[in-house]
Amino acid sequence: MVTIVGIAGSLRRASYNLMLLRAAADVMPEGVSLDIASIRDIPLYDADVEADHGLPEPVQQLKERIAAADGLLIATPEYNNAMPGVLKNALDWLSRPPADIPRVFRSLPTGVIGATPGLGGTILSQASWLPVLRVLGVLPWFEGRVIVSGAGKVFDDSGRIVDAGSAERLRIYVEGFAAFVAQRKRIRP
Ligand code: FNR
Repeated sequence: MVTIVGIAGSLRRASYNLMLLRAAADVMPEGVSLDIASIRDIPLYDADVEADHGLPEPVQQLKERIAAADGLLIATPEYNNAMPGVLKNALDWLSRPPADIPRVFRSLPTGVIGATPGLGGTILSQASWLPVLRVLGVLPWFEGRVIVSGAGKVFDDSGRIVDAGSAERLRIYVEGFAAFVAQRKRIRP
C-alpha cells in the first residue's frame, strides 16, 4: 500500500481545503490511500517549550506519520496572499529539530493544492510555500495544479464537489501525483 499524508491548513469546521482533501481521498487510485491528519492540537511554536520539554506529543505523532509515509499532500488556504499562519506554525514545529529534517522530509514526494471562495484560487499561497518546501528538501510534484476559486459554488453544504470541471481537474491531479508517489516508493531505499 502506498500512503500519502494529507494536511489541510485550516481549523475551520467547514474548511474548503479539508473538503478538497477529502475529495482527493475519494479519487485515489487502488493501492494508494490518503491519510488525512489534523493540525488542530499543535500548539503555537515556542522555543522555550521545545528547550524544556521537547516536541509536544501531537507534533511528534504527526512527524512520525509523515516520516513513515510515501508522500505528502498539502491543501493550503490563502491568507493575505500567502500561506495561513496555523499551517506554517505546524510545519515549523515539524521541522524541529533541524537534524531530523532529512529523516522526515528529504525527497518526500509532495504536492500542494488549495481552495478559496475568492478569485485567485490560492495561487499566491501555493507559491508562498516554495521556499519552505525547498528548505525541507522535499521532492515537489509540479506537473499538475489544483487552484480552486469560487469554492462556495464548487462544494455543496455536505462538502461534496458539485462542479464537474473542478472534480475532473482534481481527479487528473490525483492520478498524476499518486503515480509519482508510487514510482518514487519503488526506487527509494
Ligand atoms: C482570507 N481569505 C483570503 N482568500 C484569498 O483568496 N486570498 C487572500 O489573500 C485571503 N486573505 C484572507 C485573510 C484572512 C485573515 C482570512 C481569515 C481569510 C479568505 C479565505 O480564502 C477563506 O476564509 C477560506 O475559506 C479559508 O480556507 P478554508 O478555511 O475554507 O479551508
